[in-house]
This record gives sequence, C-alpha cells and structure tokens, in this order.
Amino acid sequence: MVYLTRRERFSAAHRLFNPALSDAENEQIYGPCSNPRWHGHNYLLWITVRGEVNSATGYVVDMKMLSRVIREKVIAKLDHKNINTEVDFMKDRFVSTENLAIGIWKELEQPIRELDVDLHAVKIQETENNVAEYFGN
Ligand code: NI
Repeated sequence: MVYLTRRERFSAAHRLFNPALSDAENEQIYGPCSNPRWHGHNYLLWITVRGEVNSATGYVVDMKMLSRVIREKVIAKLDHKNINTEVDFMKDRFVSTENLAIGIWKELEQPIRELDVDLHAVKIQETENNVAEYFGN
C-alpha cells in the first residue's frame, strides 16, 4: 500500500459567524474571521489517496487524473468564490477549516474511488498556523 498526496490551492472569501449572536459576540469567538464585510484566505489543500502500485504503470494513480478530479469537484467550486454564499456543499454550515475538510471529503470520496484508489486524508491550511485534517470519521 502506498500513500500519494496531491497539493492544490485556492483563494476564497468567507465569514465565520453564528447568526444568532451579535457582531461583538462573534468577534469574541471567531476574531477577524467574523468580519461582517468578509475577508479571504489563500488556502492550501493536500489530498492523500492510498492504493497498490499498478505493475503495468508503476503508478498508484495517474496524478494528472487525480488533479483533474480535485479541480473539477472542489477547486472550481471554491476558487475566488464566497464560500458562505456560493459553494453548494458548504451551504448552512459554519465555514471553518474543520467543516471545509469534511465538505471536501464528501465531494471527493466517490470520484476518487472511481480512479481505483481510496481517499485517505483531506488536509487543509487556512493560514500558515492553522491546519485541519480529516480521515473520513
Ligand atoms: Ni478567515
């Protein structure tokens, strides 16, 4: 079994807030990520898959195909978008790094399986000090 990781990146706007709370209360919980006028991050995304090496190719998976799936299913929906208002798989959820990792997992699990490998991990970096990883449960 070999684990392979593809890195992608996207830039997107978001706001972390609880609509039941005031702006001041949200600021206390979420800090600058609760800015009512939005703000953006340059996100880094690492998608790790696992599988056996194909004896005919030497590959676990064709990285070009993996990159295409990630771009079509995830990056195209997120890049230069407002995640709160424009991204279907994040609708009605707190736009935290944690929930992004879970949402991206759900978008990719089946399409990656169709490449004959298993999704192992979704790792996402919002800032250089904050990273979330999700392994499917
Ligand atoms: Ni933020």
